[in-house]
Amino acid sequence: MVRNMSSTAMARTRSRSFVFLVLFLHLLLLLSTGSVHSRKQHVALFIFGDSFLDAGNNNYINTTTLDQANFWPYGETYFKFPTGRFSDGRLVSDFIAEYAELPLIPPFLQPGNPQYYNGVNFASAGAGALVETFQGEVIDLKTQLSYYKKVETWLRHKLGNDEAKMTLSRAVYLFSIGSNDYLSPFLTNSTVLNSYSKSEYVGIVIGNLTAVIKDIYKRGGRKFGFINLPPLGCLPGMRIIKPENNGSCLEEASSLAKLHNRALSMLLRKLERQLKGFRYSILNFNINLRQRMNHPSKYGFKEGKGACCGTGKVRGVFSCGGKRLVKEFQLCKNPNQYVFWDSYHLTERLHKQLADQMWNGASKANHVGPHNLRDLFQSL
Ligand SMILES: *[C@@H]1O[C@H](CO)[C@@H](O)[C@H](O)[C@H]1NC(C)=O
Ligand SMILES: *[C@@H]1O[C@H](CO)[C@@H](O)[C@H](O)[C@H]1NC(C)=O
Ligand SMILES: *[C@@H]1O[C@H](CO)[C@@H](O)[C@H](O)[C@H]1NC(C)=O
Ligand SMILES: *[C@@H]1O[C@H](CO)[C@@H](O)[C@H](O)[C@H]1NC(C)=O
Repeated sequence: MVRNMSSTAMARTRSRSFVFLVLFLHLLLLLSTGSVHSRKQHVALFIFGDSFLDAGNNNYINTTTLDQANFWPYGETYFKFPTGRFSDGRLVSDFIAEYAELPLIPPFLQPGNPQYYNGVNFASAGAGALVETFQGEVIDLKTQLSYYKKVETWLRHKLGNDEAKMTLSRAVYLFSIGSNDYLSPFLTNSTVLNSYSKSEYVGIVIGNLTAVIKDIYKRGGRKFGFINLPPLGCLPGMRIIKPENNGSCLEEASSLAKLHNRALSMLLRKLERQLKGFRYSILNFNINLRQRMNHPSKYGFKEGKGACCGTGKVRGVFSCGGKRLVKEFQLCKNPNQYVFWDSYHLTERLHKQLADQMWNGASKANHVGPHNLRDLFQSL
């Protein structure tokens, strides 16, 4: 065929192959320096928040066993040893990392030789958006943000400013925060709910969360994932706070969560309008948990209200593992049949159901929006 071509066509073909050769060599060079790899494949995952996402940071701080889960039977289902996760196995964030083809995201405080290219987990059990929430026992959100700034500096040092900025802007920032701000007044002698109206208090929590989101945005963060608050009064530990309630939900706590969730949805819609390039996904955890508590068998569970591990009515006494104030506890045989793992936390099975929705969810029925996490990970 080439033999029959005119000489100009042949010249064009030759110059085209030359261009291809140059492109090909360039690609080889990029591959060998690893720069294609780090740009294309590393959509990092940064995790902020509380026990819902803590993968073991609290193992390394001076706190109480109330805020730690590094003892048996925590971890029994999946890891076969207690990692510090408040579950029998993996958390939402572990499944999300898997779906995004990332390795498990390590806790920031884990000793060793940390590499932050894939992200890192700052979450701390017991933490709230307010510094006062379980102060002295947790890594509050502001401190988590200060750790994030250290990671930013590390990335700039390793990758240079431009590539670090690209890594930060392609990364996904996952948050679970607020539950402890509303639980702590019921669990401590705090009088904060006497000094503020409910809506004022929600405003302060949301205000502090907003400041953190805006700071991350300022540093290049664009893709955010949120899990809203569950009906807090229906956690087994809250059902037993007022014995006269006989195990029913503590409505004062659930109504705070409802107010918070409304304010959070409004905030995110506002930020999407205000901040150029800001994109988010929010999972309506509240409705998801209600559905499973009320119709456990529809979702493959046998027990929707009581915990697998703990003692007392609905196993609401926070004694799982026997290392806290109350030493006695019962442990169910099959955590897969339970929505709640301990008095305040969920089983791996529930975490996976939530992660699947956050990753794939598209419609109102999934209660995820406006994006799902797969969109956020796969877009630039
Ligand atoms: C840890 O906390 C305990 C009790 O609050 C305190 O006595 C101790 O000094 C603290 N240890 C460190 C290393 O901060
Ligand atoms: C609350 O205060 C009472 C009386 O001062 C005390 O006995 C109790 O231990 C305190 N509870 C907590 C959770 O701090
Ligand atoms: C953040 O929380 C503190 C209390 O920890 C409060 O005084 C402050 O007003 C809050 N900030 C915003 C912006 O709401
Ligand atoms: C309390 O709840 C149990 C079931 O959890 C029920 O059998 C009992 O009748 C209730 N008691 C009162 C006083 O409502």
